[in-house]
Amino acid sequence: MKKRDGDFVKKVWGFYKINKRPMPWRVDISPYSIFISEVMLQQTQVARVQVKYPLFMQTFPDFKSLSLADTRTLLAVWQGMGYNRRALYLRAAAAIIEEKYKGVLPNNVALLDELPGIGYATACSVIVFAFNVPVSFIETNIRRVYIHHFFSEKKKIDDEDILALVLETVDKKNPREWYWALMDYGAYLAKHGQNPNIRSKHYIKQKKFKGSVREVRGGVLSLLLKQSSTLKRLKEVYADERLFTALEQLIKEGFITKDKDTYKIIQ
Ligand code: ADE
Repeated sequence: MKKRDGDFVKKVWGFYKINKRPMPWRVDISPYSIFISEVMLQQTQVARVQVKYPLFMQTFPDFKSLSLADTRTLLAVWQGMGYNRRALYLRAAAAIIEEKYKGVLPNNVALLDELPGIGYATACSVIVFAFNVPVSFIETNIRRVYIHHFFSEKKKIDDEDILALVLETVDKKNPREWYWALMDYGAYLAKHGQNPNIRSKHYIKQKKFKGSVREVRGGVLSLLLKQSSTLKRLKEVYADERLFTALEQLIKEGFITKDKDTYKIIQ
């Protein structure tokens, strides 16, 4: 290993030794628990996932129960996580794992990547955390760490250049713990100082939630979980164009149906 890599590896382990974050999915490292938590962590902060994850695991303790979940219970348990499509994707993925793989999560990046709601990075993180296999991949926390350490001056940094370094530095004996360390360090860097990821070629600024269609989608869904409603009633709460877009999307994506004049959660 090059000296610069050795220095980096030492620094990451040193940080982790003192600052490692306890998380339930780092205690229960079963494939199911890792699969669920990694999808949750794609777009939701650790603190919020930590609140929601226990109820989800209690309600749906395995792929089988999740595959059979009714939409209402599933969405009620998911409430507050945002990006609700992930809950439907998780159920669809669980059904495939049950049927095609007899309830056993495949230890294979390409096969996981094919599942609904699972992109390449999530497929890799599941393989690392569930099976302790040293695959190299980048997600937002990891990107932050490498940019901070290796590209302190550069702009428009390409993931390809980062990936070469990830490959050089990955801990082949204990990739699971190594990636936990990288993610903890990356999360720390997000909170302290300027976000290194704005210098990534692939950086996309997060869209504002306030005023978005996403906000109305979440609101409508939460309202319909409490009670089915007419358009008139929904208009009293959401008085602008976003309501129509939100309803259209929610119907198309299989969250809700319209029965005569009434919108309700799908059976
Ligand atoms: N620990 C395990 N998986 C994680 C993730 N996706 N983000 C942050 N910390 C994690």
